[in-house]
Amino acid sequence: MCGIVGAVGKRNIVSILVNGLLRLEYRGYDSAGLVVVHDGKLNRVRSAGRVAELGEKSANTYGETGIAHTRWATHGIPSERNAHPHMSRDLISVVHNGIIENYEALRTELSAQGYVFTSDTDTEVIAHLIHSHYQSGGTLLAATQAALTRLVGAYAIGVVAANNPHQLIAARKGSPLLLGVGEGEHFVASDMSALLQVTKNVVYLEEGDVVEVNLADYRIFDAKGAEVTRPVHVSELDNDSVELGEYQHYMQKEIHEQPQALANTLEAVCNSQSLVPGIFGADANAIFPQVESILILACGTSHHAGMVARYWLEEIAGIPCTVEIASEYRYRTSVPNPKTLVVTISQSGETADTLAALNHAKDTGHTFTLAICNVPESAIIRQSKLRLLTRAGPEIGVASTKAFTTQLAALFLLTLVLAKLRGRVSAEREQQFLHELRHLPIAVQKVLALEPQIAELSKHFADKHHALFLGRGLHYPIALEGALKLKEISYIHAEAYPAGELKHGPLALVDEDMPVVSVAPNDALLEKLKSNLQEVKARGGELFVFADADTHIRSEEGIHILQMPEHAGFLSPILHTVPLQLLAYYVALQKGTDVDKPRNLAKSVTVE
Ligand code: F6R
Repeated sequence: MCGIVGAVGKRNIVSILVNGLLRLEYRGYDSAGLVVVHDGKLNRVRSAGRVAELGEKSANTYGETGIAHTRWATHGIPSERNAHPHMSRDLISVVHNGIIENYEALRTELSAQGYVFTSDTDTEVIAHLIHSHYQSGGTLLAATQAALTRLVGAYAIGVVAANNPHQLIAARKGSPLLLGVGEGEHFVASDMSALLQVTKNVVYLEEGDVVEVNLADYRIFDAKGAEVTRPVHVSELDNDSVELGEYQHYMQKEIHEQPQALANTLEAVCNSQSLVPGIFGADANAIFPQVESILILACGTSHHAGMVARYWLEEIAGIPCTVEIASEYRYRTSVPNPKTLVVTISQSGETADTLAALNHAKDTGHTFTLAICNVPESAIIRQSKLRLLTRAGPEIGVASTKAFTTQLAALFLLTLVLAKLRGRVSAEREQQFLHELRHLPIAVQKVLALEPQIAELSKHFADKHHALFLGRGLHYPIALEGALKLKEISYIHAEAYPAGELKHGPLALVDEDMPVVSVAPNDALLEKLKSNLQEVKARGGELFVFADADTHIRSEEGIHILQMPEHAGFLSPILHTVPLQLLAYYVALQKGTDVDKPRNLAKSVTVE
């Protein structure tokens, strides 16, 4: 979703802004723009296309202070006139990520004061509001702070003024923004990948923070306006982790990074002899023994991870578990149980619905909160009592891959720790589980070796308009995840069903034009699944079965088998995810879609 980069330096910062935006492209956008301050003027360049085009258009622009933006349209169509930065009377310029909910009332008020609106965006009101305070004297900081008190909604903003060289003001509330600390120059950005080109020193701004960014220093003010000090962290990211390297797309790279991502996520436990609550934070020792049930809140792929965890938590740990889509839970009246552990799952840690669901849970009286998240210092991490970081590394492709499998690994650890506390795992069983976890990266590596066969299978899908995914039990959420991957990057309509539901409706859809993908692990439900597959075959459906080696499902007319290298027991959903990711990837390649930036989607969904 929208990306922000800003810089104050003693050199031409245009290329820093453009390179930063290129790094943020993965978030999803439809237009881009920048403004620099030079010779008492604001020079604005915008493009309704890609950042590369903005780079070409701004090649001869000079400025030592500036802000830049990639826009993901919310208010107003994607177009150059709606692209950020927005300006007020050639004096103030603003970039904004988020949604201003009271923009209509503010627009009416500002129009009455004579301000002329040149876009359909909610952002333009911020520029005029700041202008209305700034023109009456005072600093840009004070004008911005005054304007912010009028805004209802979520924002991360960057602000510059034509008559104020070498200074920018930035602020965040509900949308991510961080400060990059350089030597004699400072930066702001939506995420760290944009700033690795210039610094690794980062300050994570807190909710409600406003920062005055100068050449030599910066000053941070909290939500109440008090000047505060925030710690400077050294980012662990390096430029290589956001480079494409030998791969054609980030999605392909990230699928292949899964063995390492899993090894990193499991590092702490795999090197130890037993599992302890402390891996979830110091308070876990006190909280976990009190937990009576689990409530998992998440969106999209992360929600699917939660659905798998429900099977594990109930079967292995014997603990009741509910999984809810965050955007539904946040507006629902629910009955809280203070002994429930509320688990949020999020790759980005900034998803607006998940964050709101977490706060809703807290408002209704829940105090036990745990975040499973891939981004340290993200809002969801900071607002939860306990946390476990998935250490997948930056995920650039919009379609989530390595974040999902590492979330599953983290949720399995949660299951085992709770199961142990509840006396449901013997010491011997614990060692066996640890052994299986240590083996997981190797097992995933073996599945990745099936890539050429999956590429071949994908050819059957390229001319199809629909696909059905089937799974049972633990693997039903994996079927859902496979269908989500296929639809989001290949634009083929895909639906997933628990295989037992087929005859209750979806079987009517099956014919030779509806490929049916089935996840077929060698588990207790295998025989039932085989009957379901026969139901499909009898109706002329073409089956693509991802089967464990010893399932004895054979290739024949209308049945294509992809033999999985091994059966991983409870961890099988992690292995079975990988071929479905590859299938979606190769179908998308056949269809020639923009794999890493599928249409209409954004990586980090920071608006509702
Ligand atoms: C699908 C996908 C989305 C995200 C969802 C939640 O491939 O990436 O469905 O899973 O937007 O995002 P996070 O995990 O960042 O909260």
